[in-house]
Amino acid sequence: MEAIARAHTNIALIKYWGKRNTQLFLPTNSSLSITLDHFYTETKVQFSDQFEKDSLILDGSQVSDQEIGKITAFLDHVRNIAGTKVFAKVTSVNHVPTAAGFASSASGYAALAAAASKALQLDLTGTELSALARQGSGSASRSIFGGFVEWQKGEKTDGTDSFATQILDEKAWDISVLSVVVEAGPKSVSSRDGMQRTVETSPFYAGWLATVAEDLQQMKEAINARDFTKLGEIAEANAMKMHATTLGAKPPFLYWQSATLDVMQQVMELRQQGLEAYFTIDAGPNVKVLCKPEQEHIIKEKLAAVASVRDVVVCHPGPGIQYLSEWVG
Ligand code: ADP
Ligand code: DP6
Ligand code: CO
Repeated sequence: MEAIARAHTNIALIKYWGKRNTQLFLPTNSSLSITLDHFYTETKVQFSDQFEKDSLILDGSQVSDQEIGKITAFLDHVRNIAGTKVFAKVTSVNHVPTAAGFASSASGYAALAAAASKALQLDLTGTELSALARQGSGSASRSIFGGFVEWQKGEKTDGTDSFATQILDEKAWDISVLSVVVEAGPKSVSSRDGMQRTVETSPFYAGWLATVAEDLQQMKEAINARDFTKLGEIAEANAMKMHATTLGAKPPFLYWQSATLDVMQQVMELRQQGLEAYFTIDAGPNVKVLCKPEQEHIIKEKLAAVASVRDVVVCHPGPGIQYLSEWVG
């Protein structure tokens, strides 16, 4: 009745941005990401009929009732599959800033899905685990797998065909992802609220939907051909389009801060100087810079030299879900 799992975060090259069903976490578009080696979550789940409710200790602190509500809603899915009503004690440590645009919801819910389903002895396939994790946070569906991962939006209304699959192993192609920290504190608009407001109110959302499938197709071709230039150009353009949709929302919002722009401009300048780097940005102010491993050191230095940059964390493609026998936290 107890299990521990580790899941890594991921950075989307083609963004998941919008749900067609908010209850089931069914996306409007398919997406593609790289699982990252450096950032991860470890979660322990214990089920016991001694517990009177679910609890979560995240990074050593009891979370709010609202957070417990999200955990209970998610664990209900796992309990339904297992045919049990027993409550859980969840302990989790994020080796990544929480709610800052570093995809803590992806590693957090992937680790929770894996640990909870193992604790209840559910023998889920990777596909089933991905569809389960999706119902905690959409991006978590992709963190079940390592390397380059595609989340197919699926066509069905019940969501059974909406899950992720690995398209390329983490050892098959090394790319450097430099995570540029400009602000590690929580964002003011969550991914969930931001994408929903955009879907419901932004006239620019139609433009996003009109081109994202073609971006994904081109990205898959770039990955198959190991064409870094094409990968970087498409990823950067796709991120720009996603963020543009938020400017048309009612009320409008923007995940960028002035330091975000400083980094974006530095990346464009590096390209002028002949260094090949591209940026992408999830729902938050921090920037991820894609480059070739052989240029990682020099590009890291140039990014760290920007006055508003606090830290640059070097990441590479990382592994999928791991089960641990001992709690380190
Ligand atoms: P991020 O960019 O970090 O993914 P989101 O707004 O998508 O930001 O999600 C942040 C939310 O994810 C948190 O407020 C919390 O509800 C959830 N979360 C983060 N880490 C964990 C964890 N380890 N276990 C459970 N839930 C988590
Ligand atoms: C911009 O998966 O965090 O990072 O499904 O509502 O939990 P919920 O949202 P989340 O959204 C991630 C949005 C994104 C793009 C991406 O990761 O694909
Ligand atoms: Co998230």
